[in-house]
Amino acid sequence: MFHKLFERAAAHFIGKTSRSKVHLIRNVTNICPTRCTRLLSTQGNLAHYHRPVFNTQRITTACNNVTVHACLSGTSEKVDFKNQKNVVIQNQAYQTDEWTNVSPKILSYLGKNLHLKKDHPLCLIKDSIVEHFYSKYMKSTRTPLFAVFDNFSPVVSTFQNFDSMLVRKDHVSRAKSDNYYINESTLLRAHTSAHEHDLLKSGLDAFIVVGDVYRRDTIDSSHFPVFHQIEGVRLFNKKQLFAKSQDSYNELKIFEDGSLYTDKQACHTLEASKLVEMNLKQTLEDLVCDLFGKDVVYRWVDAYFPFTHPSFEMEIFFGGEWMEMLGCGILQQEILNTAGAKDSIGWAFGLGLERLAMRLFNIPDIRYFWCQEDAFLSQFRGCKNIKDINFKPMLSNQPPVVNDMSFWVPDEFCSNDFYDLVRSLDTGIIESVILKDSFVHPKTNKSSHCYSIFYRHTSRSLTKTEVNVLHNDIQTAVVTKLNVVGRW
Ligand code: DAH
Repeated sequence: MFHKLFERAAAHFIGKTSRSKVHLIRNVTNICPTRCTRLLSTQGNLAHYHRPVFNTQRITTACNNVTVHACLSGTSEKVDFKNQKNVVIQNQAYQTDEWTNVSPKILSYLGKNLHLKKDHPLCLIKDSIVEHFYSKYMKSTRTPLFAVFDNFSPVVSTFQNFDSMLVRKDHVSRAKSDNYYINESTLLRAHTSAHEHDLLKSGLDAFIVVGDVYRRDTIDSSHFPVFHQIEGVRLFNKKQLFAKSQDSYNELKIFEDGSLYTDKQACHTLEASKLVEMNLKQTLEDLVCDLFGKDVVYRWVDAYFPFTHPSFEMEIFFGGEWMEMLGCGILQQEILNTAGAKDSIGWAFGLGLERLAMRLFNIPDIRYFWCQEDAFLSQFRGCKNIKDINFKPMLSNQPPVVNDMSFWVPDEFCSNDFYDLVRSLDTGIIESVILKDSFVHPKTNKSSHCYSIFYRHTSRSLTKTEVNVLHNDIQTAVVTKLNVVGRW
């Protein structure tokens, strides 16, 4: 009975009567049989382009709680706003406190809005994605289904960034060591999901948010403390989900008082959950095929996010590796209920623009996106079709200059404090920083870290003097600001 009803509803919902397709939705995660042949095995190297913080389960073991506590407290250093009572951001004053860890350097990125800069690769990609959604999804009135927001301020409350998205108080993603806090209750958004609750509350049921997001992270060719995300949300009420299955419409339900399974929330019926999952995956598969071409090789991987269940990641095969491209899932019903949309079920996704652009245009280093040089920007100017662009890196032919730095670290030290300090002094010549070695001295119990700093500009060669000047500046700052004891 259930299967019959479901199959009919599914067939109508996807606009086809393909039984095999419906069969697949019911049984496996990868929903489109025509593309299944292109899905490679689920083994392989995962290339995470950004620290996957939100897809981390809440830490519950006693042992891990210790780690979380140490991490959440970070250092008490306010870096550059140490002696100031207030920080002024976009003409608004915010009181500082022991959580404040934004620096003038980080604040200087606010308002740059690369995703709104004509001819910038991030803007080209954003425009292509928006155009895809505008042209493919229309209301019956022939107006676009998805409302697009691309200029929300990145200054958000901890409620918007975490609580409204059900990120628990002790979740690792709240760590001071991983976020840019303005004070205890305000931060630079770590993801565009921070706007979901407000937009749902305003009554929207299909929207896209584009914006810059901020995370303290490692330093390498694919990490930068500021990057850009696109968020998408779509809700369905009973009519929208089941309307086409006329004869069984009355028997189909979105909600039930059921059990939680790997593929559905307790309050959702399996048929509703599977239909929404199928719509979500089809929507994203259509998007990547539009962007990368029909031959793109991708796979779906089960994931965990506090705000969705079930949750998935899409990975794309690129340069011999699997690369995580986006996170998505069926929104936790609690989010919809508290936002006043209790009769609907919905999906959401979040996608990083830089990793998409790096894959699409073959851009080898994330620093290029901040490059003002004509040699970079001119390669994207006047572009009509993003598939026509074949980026030629201007990376200097010279190998990077590698200088090591070792020091004894205090108890409260965390590597992200060091990376942040390096970023705040970098003049644009640091390619990556690697924690090469760390050990605890058996007698003194002191910890030592050794970092290799790779110096290389994206387009010109470096002089020995400029490398040495910066290296010395970092040594001085790490001693005075992070209380380490140099081993040089
Ligand atoms: N906010 C997540 C991140 O930045 C990405 C994400 C995952 C967004 C799942 C979503 C979602 O809306 O449903 O890692």
